[in-house]
Amino acid sequence: MSDALLQVQNLDMRFGGIVALRDVSFAARRGQVTSVIGPNGAGKTTLINCITGMYRATSGNILYAGSDLARQSPHAIARAGIARTFQNIALFDGLTIADNLKLARYQHGTTGLLEGALRTPRVRREEAEADRRVEETLAFLGLSDIAGNTPSELSYGTQKQVEFARALMQDATMILLDEPMAGMSRAEKTRFVDLILRVRDSLGVSFLLVEHDMPVVMGVSDHIVVLDFGSKIAEGLPAEIRENEAVIAAYLGTDAEAH
Ligand SMILES: Nc1ncnc2c1ncn2[C@@H]1O[C@H](COP(=O)(O)OP(=O)(O)OP(=O)(O)O)[C@@H](O)[C@H]1O
Ligand SMILES: [Mg+2]
Repeated sequence: MSDALLQVQNLDMRFGGIVALRDVSFAARRGQVTSVIGPNGAGKTTLINCITGMYRATSGNILYAGSDLARQSPHAIARAGIARTFQNIALFDGLTIADNLKLARYQHGTTGLLEGALRTPRVRREEAEADRRVEETLAFLGLSDIAGNTPSELSYGTQKQVEFARALMQDATMILLDEPMAGMSRAEKTRFVDLILRVRDSLGVSFLLVEHDMPVVMGVSDHIVVLDFGSKIAEGLPAEIRENEAVIAAYLGTDAEAH
């Protein structure tokens, strides 16, 4: 598969006696939305934590654009172009939205602390560039109006969009979204799905999406991987997954939108 951007190969993750991931392999293609679904405790967040380097996989490989990420630091993985949003919102409430985004840019920047304090020409250039990017990103997402607000002044759905904007500020080539639409109204979900597709189509960003809302998953995904008790039980196109016996059995008796 020549256009595979992310390749997860034979990934195992054990916590003591708990096997959170067992021999999981799949590929996420460039410019696509690949969704990872499965019942609660299936290993979805663990998979994201392994890809971003928060957890070190027990065994297996994670290739991104050809290089092996499995033994790299979270920082190196972020620099390789992978950004994430968290299952819980992680914005700074003392800061405006514009500053939250700027901060995401700095985490990515090259300026050292001393240099920052001295405000060298390079620092001022980076700052002007960050301001420009904040404006551009907010405008692209239709969020220019809220640049001066703080997170707590915004609805939950809008805060989630800001988290998304923060990933874009890091020049990510792949964004990992862990249940970004949990707790959103139907209208907020529709807007968020539209955002994902717009970013995919106009910026060429690839997505790995963990989401429990099946209509959303079926509508937005190019490819779906299904985990159950840490193992991959199916993968394919939305239409194939919808008909898959093993997937239906795994979800039987569980409420896929339980939380
Ligand atoms: N740091 C950890 N220490 C011990 N066990 C863990 C750890 N992280 C995850 N697990 C276990 O790994 C399994 C998979 O958990 P994970 O959070 O990845 O599931 P999930 O698919 O994201 O579930 P949900 O849909 O509820 O978010 C669970 O049994 C969980 O208890
Ligand atoms: Mg989870």
